[in-house]
Amino acid sequence: MNGREEGFAPTGICSSGPERIHMTSKEMEGGPAGPLVGQFAESVEPGFPFELRLPQGAVPPLQDLPGRYFLGRCSSEVGIERDSGWSIYLRQPLFVCSRQEREDGDFWQLCQGPGHFVRRPGATDESLGQVGIDPAAHWLSQRSRGDPLNLLGPLGNGFSVPSEPHNLLVAADVADDPAWFWQLYFLCEQALDRGGRATILLRAADERELAALIPWLPVQVEVRTAADDFEWLEQLRQTAAWADQMRAGVPASRYSEMKRVIEESRFRTDRNFAQVLVNADLACGVGACLVCVVPTGRGGLTRACVHGPVFDLMDLVD
Ligand code: FES
Repeated sequence: MNGREEGFAPTGICSSGPERIHMTSKEMEGGPAGPLVGQFAESVEPGFPFELRLPQGAVPPLQDLPGRYFLGRCSSEVGIERDSGWSIYLRQPLFVCSRQEREDGDFWQLCQGPGHFVRRPGATDESLGQVGIDPAAHWLSQRSRGDPLNLLGPLGNGFSVPSEPHNLLVAADVADDPAWFWQLYFLCEQALDRGGRATILLRAADERELAALIPWLPVQVEVRTAADDFEWLEQLRQTAAWADQMRAGVPASRYSEMKRVIEESRFRTDRNFAQVLVNADLACGVGACLVCVVPTGRGGLTRACVHGPVFDLMDLVD
């Protein structure tokens, strides 16, 4: 690490960073509120989002929720077990998919980020679906309706959603990890709610995976799929040309090609036209531990937990 960090305002406006890591004004104000205790509204199916009920009024109305996250204590609530169980000693990031305030509570749909799934959606064959056991995913999968979950948050900066009608393009590399879909899919519904149009581009090698994901989308959403890199880039080229906003969930290795395709198809790139959700280790959530730093396009580093995890793509690529 060269000690130089770049901070990004929530709007994605880039500012020159100071020489040393510093706390932002938001962090100085105390960072996240104290822990919240929610209740599972349903049991958790690994690899899928789950619904949690929070006490009404515990979280004020907020904008730009998709992309923001809670840090959940995904381990035993029982003191004696917590003393002896060290398999999960950090809180786990749980990303906000959606929020619905209803008469009987404040319901949040949350999901884990990439790299946690026990089973890929749509996989019926265990050897195909098994991609590693994550202790947090395992703990979540043991929860039942009504069980408590201790949370900090919501934290970070999410995807900005224009209030006026717009043409939205969502690009998710589900061949890399289906979590990208869950983290972004609700943006489509938000675009439709604002009178706009939504297209989602999914890179997926497996038809069964697509069949498990697509029914979660409103029928008005145009779905495009790509089975390989060639199709993915071609579809990106076609769709980026007419979109007003592009929101992407892809591994960092795809940022450069995505930027190149945007520049070729649009000739100019407006700020925040393309926002990406980075896959970073979100541990403390307040900018203190530095495990979440990600490189910026100008050769610096920035903390994804407080300046992201959603960034303007152009800030991350040279
Ligand atoms: S998660 Fe600790 S500094 Fe970002």
